[in-house]
Amino acid sequence: MKINISSRDLSYDIVYEKGAIGHLQDYLNTDRKALILTDSGVPKAYAESAASCFKEAKIVTVPQGEQSKCIDNYLMILREMLAANFTRSDCVVAVGGGVCGDLAAFAASCYMRGVAFYHIPTTVLAMVDSSIGGKTAVDFEGVKNVVGSFYQPSAVIIDTEVLKTLEDRQVNAGLAEAIKMAATSDAGLFKYIEDCDDYMADLEEIIKRANVIKKAVVEEDPQEKGLRKVLNFGHTVGHAIESAAEGRLLHGECVAIGMMLMASEEIKPKLEKVLKKYHLPTECEFDTEELTDIMKHDKKANSAGVSTVWVNTIGSFEFKNMTWEELSKINKIRG
Ligand code: GLY
Repeated sequence: MKINISSRDLSYDIVYEKGAIGHLQDYLNTDRKALILTDSGVPKAYAESAASCFKEAKIVTVPQGEQSKCIDNYLMILREMLAANFTRSDCVVAVGGGVCGDLAAFAASCYMRGVAFYHIPTTVLAMVDSSIGGKTAVDFEGVKNVVGSFYQPSAVIIDTEVLKTLEDRQVNAGLAEAIKMAATSDAGLFKYIEDCDDYMADLEEIIKRANVIKKAVVEEDPQEKGLRKVLNFGHTVGHAIESAAEGRLLHGECVAIGMMLMASEEIKPKLEKVLKKYHLPTECEFDTEELTDIMKHDKKANSAGVSTVWVNTIGSFEFKNMTWEELSKINKIRG
């Protein structure tokens, strides 16, 4: 099964197949060199499986975690490609989650002005969200995603077999992004996530339905000039919480708390219930002042305030420009 993403000058497939990581030749040209980027948290066997499909492959492993999304690693990848005489016909493959994807895609977008990039996501978060839509970036001078580009993958290969080794906390954190998309754009998917009783079995269906939402959004607005901002539901305050938590909370967990702060009183109980079902946090310990101060450094902020996404009823959303004062009022700490 495939979903095609196409908009103006871009077109690529998201391919769904269990076990695909071991026979990539069925989906892409493997008769060339590949730099496979993975991280220390991903079982080695996955990158090795992907590498074995190519004529020649170099596996590069970075430490697990956001700190790997840095300029030094970006330069290191370019050095590896240059040292191995990569040409414009060779490719970069990310076997990992969002950090690997963003870093590998950014390097692919710059090497010789762009070589093919493939993502084989190994986390729910990357399958649901970050592998699709062409956002690439590294963090710089302490600012998340501040250096990057829009560069579309040539294909995204979703092999849900790899999720068997992912710990539950990571699965749930990834599901927060699916809940985010359902809350703003698909009441049917929200209900599906609310009702499913064996979510591991339902995971592939949830991922595909979230990808259908993301497809519609990125096809209409590939460069986040308007509609794509809807994907930031829960992220405005979520990013600030992530920064304040200094690694103690996963991205999806921070988004879960962020969503609660941007939900109407009417839907809050429903949202809280579904987040709790997946063991996601719905409140945090940080104070208003601290979070607002961090948000002022968000690249989407300006001196007056920041653009936010609100959900008043499940399956719909509203963009609202908020002043810092208004924001500090909603960031009330509960519990
Ligand atoms: N992860 C949000 C976006 O792709 O725009």
